[in-house]
Amino acid sequence: MQEEWTEKYRPSSLSQVIGNDSAVRAMRRWAESWSKGPPRSRALVLRGEPGIGKTSSALALARDMSWDYIEMNASDHRNAASIRKVAGAGSTSQTFTLDGDFMSSSHGKRKLVIIDEADNLFGREDYGGAKEIVETIRNSGQPIVLIVNDYSELSRKSPAIRQLAEKVDFRRLDSKAIVGLLGSIAEKENVRVPQRLLEQIAENAGGDMRAAVNDLQMMVEGKTALEPADGDAMGKRNQEKSLATCLRAMFGAKTLREARDATLDLDMTPDELEKWIEESIPAELRTAEELSLAFDSLSRSDVYLGQTRRLQHYGLWAYAKEMMTGGVSLSRRGTPRPAHVEYRFPSHFIVLSRAKGFRAARDSVSSKLAGFLHTSRRCVNESALPYLAAISKNDHDLLVALCSETGLDEGDVAYLLDADPDSKEVDEIMSRVRSVKGIAEPDDKTGKGRGRPRGPKRGIADF
Ligand SMILES: Nc1ncnc2c1ncn2[C@@H]1O[C@H](COP(=O)(O)OP(=O)(O)OP(=O)(O)O)[C@@H](O)[C@H]1O
Ligand SMILES: [Mg+2]
Repeated sequence: MQEEWTEKYRPSSLSQVIGNDSAVRAMRRWAESWSKGPPRSRALVLRGEPGIGKTSSALALARDMSWDYIEMNASDHRNAASIRKVAGAGSTSQTFTLDGDFMSSSHGKRKLVIIDEADNLFGREDYGGAKEIVETIRNSGQPIVLIVNDYSELSRKSPAIRQLAEKVDFRRLDSKAIVGLLGSIAEKENVRVPQRLLEQIAENAGGDMRAAVNDLQMMVEGKTALEPADGDAMGKRNQEKSLATCLRAMFGAKTLREARDATLDLDMTPDELEKWIEESIPAELRTAEELSLAFDSLSRSDVYLGQTRRLQHYGLWAYAKEMMTGGVSLSRRGTPRPAHVEYRFPSHFIVLSRAKGFRAARDSVSSKLAGFLHTSRRCVNESALPYLAAISKNDHDLLVALCSETGLDEGDVAYLLDADPDSKEVDEIMSRVRSVKGIAEPDDKTGKGRGRPRGPKRGIADF
């Protein structure tokens, strides 16, 4: 695929940021005030809707000032931990390297700390780290930029932020500004685009520059000129937009009914919806517990969908939908939602077959698992096997339980572990399986398995 135009044409200096002049001026003023040492407000909060230049402006500011920068995403738990680490170290006269390690500022220059998606900075209300983060900001020796879509959420969780950080508002861009940028991109790309179409794209984007640039790139793909009729493609984007709105509402629902109702207006079958939800779960939910609960609900909905198809009894759809919407969204156990999720088109995993024997081994595994998982062999190949293979490599206890209950043999285990069927690793697993099932060791193996720690006997339901 071609480079994304939103990246290619990202403003590299504040002077290239379109619109939002007063926001840009405020950022410059604040940055310049650092030349005399840390100012009263050590942090800026950039607030505004998606795709209007907040992140770009923060990056451009660092570049204009010749500052290094470190970018953190507050929704990412690992980054939340490194923010805490920074906070815990309590040092103010030091700067830190890109991987979060400290570096004395005598060796380094100023470093702009960019905390994106700061809506989630404080996580749940009871999160004890909030005070630490506020203290870091209060005492920071380095400039900090927090970026949020929803300022009220941030200031509600930490009223102190209101005093500590200067707020800079970014506004949606007007159509004229968007048309201007689209026109100049088209020119640089050597594509002729009718003015009317540029205006149509700009209006359709509703002030979101990223959406407009993406739409233009999608329409141009491989062409040297566009016609007014090319605008028809925008219908698809609108559809995906409304889908994203519904999925966002569904994952944010507090009750089963709210979750179910969020998807009522969507024009798609439950089977299609299930694929979208499946694809979105890892982006929306983060902990192992939440993921396991959500996929469990999804698998139950899948059983209902299968029965609907087999029995042609469409009344079962209702149960499937409750499981895939309410069941999945109520799997959240209090961890904060990511401020921003791009819902992607469901990708089906394709297991690449390396050789005929490989394919035969794969089919042997999937036919045994298909019955166990109430699904088709193809479905196992496409969506369960890649995960199972990955999990099996890391968790031999699970693999032993799986073999005991589904009858996977040496060849199957070798396939899952990507190992030789005669290898020690496979041998060991099979020996444990025999022990769980109470089967004696074969003659040629006797001695080998004796006295080996067996580990607790666990069934698949224990995992
Ligand atoms: N004001 C702007 N001037 C020029 N280009 C812009 C502007 N706003 C957005 N863009 C274009 O849109 C892309 C996305 O913008 P950016 O990442 O800065 O948005 P954002 O406000 O941070 O959005 P989000 O809240 O979704 O993170 C940029 O790479 C750039 O191509
Ligand atoms: Mg951004």
